[in-house]
Amino acid sequence: MSRLQAEHLYKVFGRRPDEAVRRLESGADRDELRADGTTAAVIDASFTVDPGQIFVVMGLSGSGKSTLLRMLNGLLEPTAGRVLFDGQDLTALSPRELRAVRSRKISMVFQHFALFPHRSVLDNAAYGLEVQGVPRAEREQRATEALALAGLAGWEQSWPDELSGGMQQRVGLARALATDADLLLMDESFSALDPLIRRDMQDQLLELQKTLKKTIVFITHDLNEAMRLGDRIAVMRDGRIVQLGTAEDILVTPANDYVASFTQDVDRTRVLTAGAIMADPESAYPSAGDGGKELRTPEDVIAAAPAVVKADTPIAELFTPCSTSGVAVAVTCERGELIGVVPRARLLAVLGEPMKPSDGADAADATPTADAKALRKDAAEAVAGA
Ligand SMILES: Nc1ncnc2c1ncn2[C@@H]1O[C@H](COP(=O)(O)OP(=O)(O)O)[C@@H](O)[C@H]1O
Ligand SMILES: [Mg+2]
Repeated sequence: MSRLQAEHLYKVFGRRPDEAVRRLESGADRDELRADGTTAAVIDASFTVDPGQIFVVMGLSGSGKSTLLRMLNGLLEPTAGRVLFDGQDLTALSPRELRAVRSRKISMVFQHFALFPHRSVLDNAAYGLEVQGVPRAEREQRATEALALAGLAGWEQSWPDELSGGMQQRVGLARALATDADLLLMDESFSALDPLIRRDMQDQLLELQKTLKKTIVFITHDLNEAMRLGDRIAVMRDGRIVQLGTAEDILVTPANDYVASFTQDVDRTRVLTAGAIMADPESAYPSAGDGGKELRTPEDVIAAAPAVVKADTPIAELFTPCSTSGVAVAVTCERGELIGVVPRARLLAVLGEPMKPSDGADAADATPTADAKALRKDAAEAVAGA
Protein backbone atom coordinates (compact mmCIF):
# COMPACT_ATOMS: atom_id res chain seq x y z
CA MET A 1 0.00 0.00 0.00
CA SER A 2 1.19 3.51 -0.69
CA ARG A 3 1.94 5.56 2.38
CA LEU A 4 0.73 8.82 1.00
CA GLN A 5 -1.66 9.52 -1.78
CA ALA A 6 -2.88 12.79 -3.26
CA GLU A 7 -6.04 12.58 -5.34
CA HIS A 8 -6.95 15.46 -7.61
CA LEU A 9 -5.84 18.08 -5.12
CA TYR A 10 -6.71 21.70 -5.74
CA LYS A 11 -5.99 24.78 -3.69
CA VAL A 12 -7.47 28.07 -4.75
CA PHE A 13 -6.95 31.30 -2.81
CA GLY A 14 -9.37 34.16 -3.21
CA ARG A 15 -13.03 34.54 -3.96
CA ARG A 16 -15.41 31.69 -4.87
CA PRO A 17 -12.81 28.93 -4.83
CA ASP A 18 -15.30 26.16 -5.67
CA GLU A 19 -16.38 27.92 -8.81
CA ALA A 20 -12.72 28.40 -9.71
CA VAL A 21 -12.14 24.63 -9.37
CA ARG A 22 -15.01 23.95 -11.75
CA ARG A 23 -13.54 26.36 -14.25
CA LEU A 24 -10.11 24.75 -13.92
CA GLU A 25 -11.66 21.31 -14.41
CA SER A 26 -13.13 22.49 -17.65
CA GLY A 27 -9.81 23.77 -18.92
CA ALA A 28 -9.33 27.32 -17.61
CA ASP A 29 -5.74 28.15 -16.73
CA ARG A 30 -4.13 30.04 -13.90
CA ASP A 31 -3.87 33.32 -15.77
CA GLU A 32 -7.59 33.50 -16.56
CA LEU A 33 -8.41 33.12 -12.88
CA ARG A 34 -5.76 35.58 -11.82
CA ALA A 35 -7.52 38.24 -13.87
CA ASP A 36 -10.41 37.83 -11.40
CA GLY A 37 -8.14 38.13 -8.38
CA THR A 38 -8.14 34.39 -7.68
CA THR A 39 -4.93 32.36 -7.28
CA ALA A 40 -4.96 28.72 -8.31
CA ALA A 41 -1.93 27.61 -6.30
CA VAL A 42 -2.32 23.87 -6.89
CA ILE A 43 -4.29 22.41 -9.77
CA ASP A 44 -5.34 18.77 -10.00
CA ALA A 45 -2.32 17.20 -8.32
CA SER A 46 -2.37 13.41 -8.05
CA PHE A 47 0.44 11.09 -7.01
CA THR A 48 1.35 8.31 -4.62
CA VAL A 49 4.39 7.97 -2.42
CA ASP A 50 5.49 4.50 -1.36
CA PRO A 51 6.90 3.70 2.08
CA GLY A 52 10.61 4.47 2.30
CA GLN A 53 10.65 6.62 -0.83
CA ILE A 54 12.04 10.10 -1.29
CA PHE A 55 9.49 11.91 -3.41
CA VAL A 56 10.74 15.25 -4.70
CA VAL A 57 8.53 18.12 -5.79
CA MET A 58 10.52 20.43 -8.03
CA GLY A 59 9.52 23.72 -9.60
CA LEU A 60 10.21 27.42 -9.81
CA SER A 61 9.24 29.77 -7.05
CA GLY A 62 5.48 30.31 -7.10
CA SER A 63 4.71 27.01 -8.82
CA GLY A 64 2.71 25.76 -5.82
CA LYS A 65 5.16 23.47 -4.02
CA SER A 66 4.73 24.80 -0.49
CA THR A 67 0.97 24.95 -0.83
CA LEU A 68 0.94 21.32 -1.95
CA LEU A 69 3.14 20.28 0.97
CA ARG A 70 0.93 22.05 3.49
CA MET A 71 -2.09 20.18 2.21
CA LEU A 72 -0.23 16.91 2.70
CA ASN A 73 -0.02 17.39 6.44
CA GLY A 74 -3.41 19.00 6.82
CA LEU A 75 -2.10 22.49 7.60
CA LEU A 76 -4.10 23.71 4.63
CA GLU A 77 -7.47 22.31 3.67
CA PRO A 78 -7.70 21.40 -0.01
CA THR A 79 -10.31 23.28 -2.02
CA ALA A 80 -11.00 19.97 -3.73
CA GLY A 81 -9.49 16.47 -3.68
CA ARG A 82 -8.22 14.17 -0.95
CA VAL A 83 -5.05 13.29 0.89
CA LEU A 84 -4.75 9.70 2.09
CA PHE A 85 -2.13 8.87 4.68
CA ASP A 86 -1.80 5.13 5.34
CA GLY A 87 -5.20 4.80 3.73
CA GLN A 88 -6.77 7.35 6.10
CA ASP A 89 -8.43 10.38 4.53
CA LEU A 90 -6.78 13.38 6.23
CA THR A 91 -9.39 15.73 4.82
CA ALA A 92 -12.15 13.82 6.69
CA LEU A 93 -10.52 13.90 10.15
CA SER A 94 -11.70 16.13 12.98
CA PRO A 95 -9.26 18.87 14.00
CA ARG A 96 -8.34 16.87 17.10
CA GLU A 97 -7.69 13.65 15.16
CA LEU A 98 -5.69 15.60 12.62
CA ARG A 99 -3.50 17.13 15.34
CA ALA A 100 -2.85 13.67 16.75
CA VAL A 101 -1.73 12.31 13.36
CA ARG A 102 0.37 15.38 12.77
CA SER A 103 2.18 15.28 16.07
CA ARG A 104 3.02 11.55 16.01
CA LYS A 105 3.32 10.54 12.39
CA ILE A 106 4.24 13.53 10.29
CA SER A 107 7.17 15.83 10.80
CA MET A 108 7.70 19.07 8.94
CA VAL A 109 11.32 20.08 8.50
CA PHE A 110 11.86 23.74 7.88
CA GLN A 111 14.65 25.53 6.19
CA HIS A 112 16.83 26.23 9.17
CA PHE A 113 18.17 23.57 11.39
CA ALA A 114 18.81 26.16 14.07
CA LEU A 115 20.15 24.66 17.28
CA PHE A 116 19.60 25.77 20.85
CA PRO A 117 22.96 27.21 21.90
CA HIS A 118 22.56 26.33 25.58
CA ARG A 119 21.67 22.69 25.04
CA SER A 120 24.16 19.94 24.39
CA VAL A 121 24.37 18.36 20.97
CA LEU A 122 22.56 15.33 22.39
CA ASP A 123 19.72 17.41 23.85
CA ASN A 124 19.41 19.26 20.59
CA ALA A 125 19.16 16.01 18.65
CA ALA A 126 16.60 14.69 21.14
CA TYR A 127 14.47 17.82 21.05
CA GLY A 128 11.86 16.54 18.59
CA LEU A 129 11.34 13.43 20.69
CA GLU A 130 11.10 15.52 23.85
CA VAL A 131 8.29 17.54 22.26
CA GLN A 132 6.58 14.27 21.40
CA GLY A 133 6.75 13.23 25.08
CA VAL A 134 9.20 10.34 24.62
CA PRO A 135 10.78 9.42 28.02
CA ARG A 136 14.32 10.67 28.61
CA ALA A 137 16.20 7.35 28.48
CA GLU A 138 14.56 6.36 25.22
CA ARG A 139 14.97 9.70 23.53
CA GLU A 140 18.62 9.91 24.49
CA GLN A 141 19.26 6.47 23.11
CA ARG A 142 17.54 7.28 19.83
CA ALA A 143 19.20 10.65 19.52
CA THR A 144 22.58 9.01 20.13
CA GLU A 145 21.89 6.57 17.32
CA ALA A 146 20.77 9.33 14.96
CA LEU A 147 23.90 11.35 15.74
CA ALA A 148 26.08 8.32 15.06
CA LEU A 149 24.36 7.84 11.71
CA ALA A 150 25.03 11.48 10.94
CA GLY A 151 28.73 10.94 11.63
CA LEU A 152 28.70 12.75 14.97
CA ALA A 153 29.45 9.96 17.44
CA GLY A 154 31.53 11.34 20.31
CA TRP A 155 30.11 14.85 20.05
CA GLU A 156 27.00 14.22 22.19
CA GLN A 157 28.13 16.29 25.17
CA SER A 158 29.59 19.17 23.15
CA TRP A 159 27.92 22.55 22.75
CA PRO A 160 26.70 23.58 19.29
CA ASP A 161 29.30 26.36 18.99
CA GLU A 162 32.09 23.79 19.34
CA LEU A 163 30.98 22.28 16.02
CA SER A 164 31.63 23.53 12.49
CA GLY A 165 28.72 24.97 10.54
CA GLY A 166 28.31 21.80 8.52
CA MET A 167 28.31 19.64 11.64
CA GLN A 168 25.68 21.85 13.24
CA GLN A 169 23.49 21.35 10.20
CA ARG A 170 23.91 17.62 10.57
CA VAL A 171 22.75 17.80 14.19
CA GLY A 172 19.63 19.52 12.90
CA LEU A 173 19.13 16.78 10.35
CA ALA A 174 19.64 14.11 13.01
CA ARG A 175 17.02 15.86 15.14
CA ALA A 176 14.51 15.79 12.30
CA LEU A 177 15.20 12.16 11.48
CA ALA A 178 15.24 10.92 15.09
CA THR A 179 11.54 11.66 15.59
CA ASP A 180 8.91 8.96 15.57
CA ALA A 181 7.31 10.41 12.51
CA ASP A 182 7.75 8.19 9.53
CA LEU A 183 6.58 10.81 7.09
CA LEU A 184 8.95 13.75 6.75
CA LEU A 185 8.00 16.83 4.80
CA MET A 186 11.00 18.95 3.89
CA ASP A 187 10.40 22.34 2.31
CA GLU A 188 13.56 23.69 0.64
CA SER A 189 15.40 22.41 3.68
CA PHE A 190 18.85 22.73 2.13
CA SER A 191 18.27 25.77 -0.06
CA ALA A 192 19.86 28.31 2.25
CA LEU A 193 23.09 26.33 2.65
CA ASP A 194 26.26 27.06 0.80
CA PRO A 195 26.98 24.54 -1.96
CA LEU A 196 29.55 22.38 -0.19
CA ILE A 197 27.53 22.02 3.00
CA ARG A 198 24.46 21.47 0.89
CA ARG A 199 26.04 18.56 -0.91
CA ASP A 200 27.22 17.12 2.36
CA MET A 201 23.66 17.35 3.71
CA GLN A 202 22.27 15.63 0.63
CA ASP A 203 24.78 12.81 1.16
CA GLN A 204 23.90 12.61 4.85
CA LEU A 205 20.21 12.47 4.09
CA LEU A 206 20.73 9.64 1.61
CA GLU A 207 22.96 7.85 4.10
CA LEU A 208 20.53 8.25 7.01
CA GLN A 209 17.69 7.22 4.79
CA LYS A 210 19.36 3.87 4.03
CA THR A 211 18.95 2.95 7.69
CA LEU A 212 15.88 4.90 8.76
CA LYS A 213 13.77 4.34 5.63
CA LYS A 214 11.41 7.21 6.30
CA THR A 215 8.92 8.31 3.73
CA ILE A 216 10.04 11.74 2.63
CA VAL A 217 8.48 14.46 0.52
CA PHE A 218 11.28 16.87 -0.34
CA ILE A 219 10.69 20.20 -2.00
CA THR A 220 13.33 21.99 -3.99
CA HIS A 221 13.69 24.46 -6.83
CA ASP A 222 17.06 22.91 -7.69
CA LEU A 223 16.97 20.34 -10.44
CA ASN A 224 20.30 18.78 -9.54
CA GLU A 225 19.21 18.37 -5.92
CA ALA A 226 15.97 16.81 -7.14
CA MET A 227 17.89 14.37 -9.30
CA ARG A 228 20.33 13.40 -6.57
CA LEU A 229 17.68 12.80 -3.91
CA GLY A 230 14.49 11.79 -5.64
CA ASP A 231 13.38 8.22 -6.13
CA ARG A 232 10.58 9.92 -8.00
CA ILE A 233 10.23 13.55 -9.00
CA ALA A 234 7.16 15.64 -9.69
CA VAL A 235 7.92 18.70 -11.81
CA MET A 236 5.47 21.53 -11.11
CA ARG A 237 4.70 24.48 -13.30
CA ASP A 238 2.06 27.11 -12.60
CA GLY A 239 0.25 24.91 -10.08
CA ARG A 240 0.21 21.75 -12.15
CA ILE A 241 2.37 18.65 -12.08
CA VAL A 242 3.68 18.56 -15.63
CA GLN A 243 5.78 15.43 -15.23
CA LEU A 244 6.05 12.63 -12.71
CA GLY A 245 8.86 10.13 -12.98
CA THR A 246 12.38 9.13 -12.07
CA ALA A 247 15.36 11.39 -12.76
CA GLU A 248 16.08 9.23 -15.78
CA ASP A 249 12.54 9.50 -17.11
CA ILE A 250 12.78 13.26 -16.91
CA LEU A 251 16.11 13.35 -18.71
CA VAL A 252 15.42 10.69 -21.31
CA THR A 253 11.76 11.38 -22.05
CA PRO A 254 10.86 14.89 -20.92
CA ALA A 255 7.08 15.34 -21.05
CA ASN A 256 7.34 18.58 -23.01
CA ASP A 257 9.74 21.28 -24.13
CA TYR A 258 9.36 23.07 -20.83
CA VAL A 259 10.83 20.15 -18.93
CA ALA A 260 13.40 19.46 -21.66
CA SER A 261 14.64 23.04 -21.67
CA PHE A 262 15.78 23.03 -18.07
CA THR A 263 17.28 19.56 -18.07
CA GLN A 264 19.80 20.40 -20.74
CA ASP A 265 22.38 21.70 -18.30
CA VAL A 266 22.24 18.69 -16.02
CA ASP A 267 25.28 16.44 -15.96
CA ARG A 268 23.66 13.49 -17.64
CA THR A 269 26.65 11.24 -17.26
CA ARG A 270 26.01 11.16 -13.50
CA VAL A 271 22.23 10.81 -13.62
CA LEU A 272 21.81 8.36 -16.47
CA THR A 273 22.66 4.75 -15.76
CA ALA A 274 23.72 1.83 -17.89
CA GLY A 275 20.28 0.30 -17.34
CA ALA A 276 18.56 3.36 -18.79
CA ILE A 277 20.47 3.42 -22.05
CA MET A 278 21.36 -0.23 -22.68
CA ALA A 279 20.21 -2.10 -25.76
CA ASP A 280 18.72 -5.61 -25.73
CA PRO A 281 21.35 -8.30 -25.24
CA GLU A 282 20.20 -9.98 -28.45
CA SER A 283 21.47 -6.99 -30.40
CA ALA A 284 25.05 -8.00 -29.50
CA TYR A 285 25.11 -11.42 -31.11
CA PRO A 286 26.09 -12.60 -33.53
CA SER A 287 28.74 -9.92 -33.92
CA ALA A 288 32.48 -9.61 -34.15
CA GLY A 289 34.49 -9.40 -30.97
CA ASP A 290 38.03 -8.08 -30.71
CA GLY A 291 40.37 -10.02 -32.99
CA GLY A 292 37.49 -11.16 -35.21
CA LYS A 293 36.17 -13.84 -32.84
CA GLU A 294 32.42 -14.15 -33.38
CA LEU A 295 30.18 -13.56 -30.35
CA ARG A 296 27.23 -15.95 -30.36
CA THR A 297 26.00 -16.27 -26.77
CA PRO A 298 25.49 -14.08 -23.71
CA GLU A 299 28.57 -15.73 -22.21
CA ASP A 300 30.65 -14.72 -25.27
CA VAL A 301 29.41 -11.13 -24.94
CA ILE A 302 30.31 -10.99 -21.25
CA ALA A 303 33.72 -12.55 -21.86
CA ALA A 304 34.58 -10.09 -24.65
CA ALA A 305 33.18 -6.94 -23.02
CA PRO A 306 35.71 -4.26 -21.98
CA ALA A 307 33.69 -3.88 -18.76
CA VAL A 308 30.83 -5.68 -17.04
CA VAL A 309 28.62 -3.34 -15.04
CA LYS A 310 25.31 -3.30 -13.16
CA ALA A 311 22.16 -1.53 -14.35
CA ASP A 312 22.62 1.26 -11.80
CA THR A 313 26.18 2.14 -12.84
CA PRO A 314 26.33 5.81 -13.93
CA ILE A 315 27.26 6.11 -17.58
CA ALA A 316 30.20 8.32 -16.54
CA GLU A 317 31.96 5.03 -15.73
CA LEU A 318 31.45 3.63 -19.23
CA PHE A 319 33.56 6.11 -21.15
CA THR A 320 36.95 4.62 -20.42
CA PRO A 321 35.99 1.04 -21.32
CA CYS A 322 34.14 2.24 -24.43
CA SER A 323 37.15 4.23 -25.56
CA THR A 324 39.49 1.26 -25.31
CA SER A 325 37.39 -1.31 -27.13
CA GLY A 326 34.96 -1.51 -30.02
CA VAL A 327 33.01 -4.23 -28.20
CA ALA A 328 29.95 -3.23 -26.17
CA VAL A 329 29.99 -2.94 -22.39
CA ALA A 330 27.96 -5.77 -20.83
CA VAL A 331 25.26 -5.06 -18.26
CA THR A 332 24.43 -7.91 -15.90
CA CYS A 333 21.89 -8.50 -13.15
CA GLU A 334 22.71 -9.50 -9.56
CA ARG A 335 22.91 -13.13 -10.66
CA GLY A 336 25.51 -12.23 -13.27
CA GLU A 337 23.21 -12.84 -16.25
CA LEU A 338 23.43 -10.57 -19.27
CA ILE A 339 20.51 -8.10 -19.31
CA GLY A 340 21.78 -5.61 -21.87
CA VAL A 341 24.69 -4.09 -23.72
CA VAL A 342 25.95 -0.56 -24.23
CA PRO A 343 27.76 -0.18 -27.55
CA ARG A 344 29.98 2.88 -27.93
CA ALA A 345 27.67 4.44 -30.52
CA ARG A 346 24.75 4.32 -28.11
CA LEU A 347 26.73 5.99 -25.36
CA LEU A 348 27.69 8.83 -27.66
CA ALA A 349 24.16 9.16 -29.07
CA VAL A 350 22.69 9.68 -25.62
CA LEU A 351 25.03 12.56 -24.98
CA GLY A 352 24.79 14.19 -28.35
CA GLU A 353 21.12 13.86 -29.06
CA PRO A 354 19.09 17.03 -28.61
CA MET A 355 16.19 16.48 -26.25
CA LYS A 356 12.94 15.62 -27.98
CA PRO A 357 9.75 15.91 -26.02
CA SER A 358 7.89 12.62 -25.81
CA ASP A 359 4.81 12.11 -27.94
CA GLY A 360 1.66 13.81 -26.82
CA ALA A 361 3.45 16.93 -25.60
CA ASP A 362 1.18 19.85 -25.14
CA ALA A 363 1.40 22.18 -28.13
CA ALA A 364 1.05 25.14 -25.80
CA ASP A 365 4.35 24.16 -24.26
CA ALA A 366 6.23 24.20 -27.52
CA THR A 367 8.01 27.49 -26.90
CA PRO A 368 10.26 27.74 -23.88
CA THR A 369 9.01 30.52 -21.68
CA ALA A 370 10.80 33.05 -19.54
CA ASP A 371 10.07 30.64 -16.67
CA ALA A 372 11.90 27.85 -18.40
CA LYS A 373 14.84 30.11 -19.06
CA ALA A 374 14.95 31.17 -15.43
CA LEU A 375 14.85 27.58 -14.29
CA ARG A 376 17.57 26.65 -16.72
CA LYS A 377 19.69 29.42 -15.30
CA ASP A 378 18.97 28.05 -11.81
CA ALA A 379 20.09 24.62 -12.91
CA ALA A 380 23.21 26.01 -14.52
CA GLU A 381 24.14 27.88 -11.37
CA ALA A 382 23.51 24.81 -9.27
CA VAL A 383 25.86 22.83 -11.48
CA ALA A 384 28.48 25.55 -11.35
CA GLY A 385 28.17 25.73 -7.58
CA ALA A 386 28.27 21.98 -6.99
N1 LIG B 1 -2.13 32.17 1.73
C1 LIG B 1 -2.10 32.55 0.45
N2 LIG B 1 -2.97 33.44 -0.03
C2 LIG B 1 -2.97 33.81 -1.33
N3 LIG B 1 -2.09 33.33 -2.24
C3 LIG B 1 -1.18 32.44 -1.82
C4 LIG B 1 -1.13 31.99 -0.46
N4 LIG B 1 -0.12 31.09 -0.34
C5 LIG B 1 0.43 30.99 -1.57
N5 LIG B 1 -0.20 31.79 -2.45
C6 LIG B 1 0.11 31.91 -3.89
O1 LIG B 1 0.07 30.62 -4.45
C7 LIG B 1 1.08 30.45 -5.43
C8 LIG B 1 1.96 29.27 -5.07
O2 LIG B 1 2.71 29.61 -3.90
P1 LIG B 1 3.65 28.57 -3.16
O3 LIG B 1 2.91 27.33 -2.90
O4 LIG B 1 4.23 29.27 -2.00
O5 LIG B 1 4.77 28.31 -4.27
P2 LIG B 1 6.27 27.76 -4.13
O6 LIG B 1 6.41 27.11 -2.80
O7 LIG B 1 6.42 26.82 -5.29
O8 LIG B 1 7.17 28.94 -4.27
C9 LIG B 1 1.82 31.76 -5.49
O9 LIG B 1 1.28 32.52 -6.55
C10 LIG B 1 1.50 32.40 -4.16
O10 LIG B 1 1.55 33.81 -4.26
MG1 LIG C 1 7.79 27.45 -1.26
